[in-house]
Amino acid sequence: MLLSGKILFTLPFLKYQRKDPEVYMLTKKQEARNEVCKNDELSVTDDLAPPHIQPIEIISYKDYKTRKVSTEVPQDNLINPLTHSAKENKGIRPQKDPVTKPVTKPPSHGIINCFLNIFSKDLAIDLGTANTVVYMKQKGIVLNEPSVVALHKNGREKQEVLAVGMDAKKMLGKVPPNISAIRPLRDGVITNFEVAGLMLKHFIKKVREGLALSKPRIVIAIPSGLTSVEKRAVKEAAEQAGAREVFLIQEPMAAAVGAKLLVTEPRCNMVIDIGGGTTEVAVISLAGIVSGRSLRIAGDEMDSAIIHYIKKKYNFIIGMATAERLKITIGNACPDIDKPETMEIKGRDLVSGKPNILTITSEEVREAISDQINAIAEAVRGVLEKTPPELAADIIDRGIVLTGGVALLKNLDKYINEITRLPVRTDASPLLTVAIGSGKILDSKNILKLVAVK
Ligand SMILES: Nc1ncnc2c1ncn2[C@@H]1O[C@H](COP(=O)(O)OP(=O)(O)OP(=O)(O)O)[C@@H](O)[C@H]1O
Ligand SMILES: [Mg+2]
Repeated sequence: MLLSGKILFTLPFLKYQRKDPEVYMLTKKQEARNEVCKNDELSVTDDLAPPHIQPIEIISYKDYKTRKVSTEVPQDNLINPLTHSAKENKGIRPQKDPVTKPVTKPPSHGIINCFLNIFSKDLAIDLGTANTVVYMKQKGIVLNEPSVVALHKNGREKQEVLAVGMDAKKMLGKVPPNISAIRPLRDGVITNFEVAGLMLKHFIKKVREGLALSKPRIVIAIPSGLTSVEKRAVKEAAEQAGAREVFLIQEPMAAAVGAKLLVTEPRCNMVIDIGGGTTEVAVISLAGIVSGRSLRIAGDEMDSAIIHYIKKKYNFIIGMATAERLKITIGNACPDIDKPETMEIKGRDLVSGKPNILTITSEEVREAISDQINAIAEAVRGVLEKTPPELAADIIDRGIVLTGGVALLKNLDKYINEITRLPVRTDASPLLTVAIGSGKILDSKNILKLVAVK
């Protein structure tokens, strides 16, 4: 009696999967997401999906409650690994008589949608603070440009686009008063809605030239710490840029998929994505973020810290582009005693007021960016401390994956390994990982349904 009571309590939280590919036990509420368990559909999701249908996990409500413990990621961003919505979970009650019934075909998109899909060439976009990367269905990465727009002031009010992407980045800090070179995102957030819309429109038009038969569906990766207003801004900017339908996904999830981690399995994956504006630290299991942190500290802050350091120490002013070059060329997260490096930089001497040349060492760059590196380390420690023990055990075996441009900072992997004592690897193309992952999610209808931000 007691045992059967326990079973009944557990049943609504089962991840329903049977060896028999066609039959699942489903409550009504779970029907909506049952396609993920379908054998035939999983087979098209290549390496994202488990190789065969098998029971993933049985979990009681109590266990689920204790697992969902992150306070760092906003509640509406947390995905319940079983129901995929924290709110949805409240409505589910133990079902007395679960019905075993064959699963019918998932609802089709309808003939019109199918027709539109053929001609639309859907896109996945990593709309980053520093770079925008676009993935096109069936083509792969088709665009990788800095997120910069140069505008020419034409008359009083009117502004026209002069350059977008790489051409506009070259103008940063060098423009006359009638031209402005703008970065429309800061810390992963759209700060200039109009310019962000113009930029997206330009990039979408560029990659879809000759394919403009119908509007595309667009998947966009966003930082996990965005507020609902900030999320809406991204969605509306994409809609105004010509999207037929917009799906938002969380950057760390896209990074994990792009780094070939099996995110839908009941195994823990830890990913750290460090871009220009945000650092995302996340522990992912069963297509949900179990614990995570989103910091608005990343590559851009490091560049500003280098400028500040050189100004304070040498009374010497340099621009953001020079600071970034210093970081990329001789910056490191922990010292390389055998290979101390130096670099000559050009700037303005504050005392004489004249342009001058200065030599900076790698040790100095490391000192300049130490606050940012420490903040990232602190976030990693914090997330590890909040990770449930079973999942922590998985991380020991599987380690941590680094993605995002700052993952390329010299010795960052070594440094994270030293502070965590865990294996650390940098993804093969860290600047593209989020876009590749977003593209894979776009290609897989089922994974998209699981991870799309509601
Ligand atoms: N080799 C390198 N070493 C250190 N930093 C690098 C290197 N290459 C690129 N970066 C830095 O990586 C950052 C850009 O990374 P990325 O393109 O992943 O950011 P983003 O996706 O645009 O930003 P976010 O995700 O924060 O919105 C920049 O700050 C850049 O200076
Ligand atoms: Mg990014």
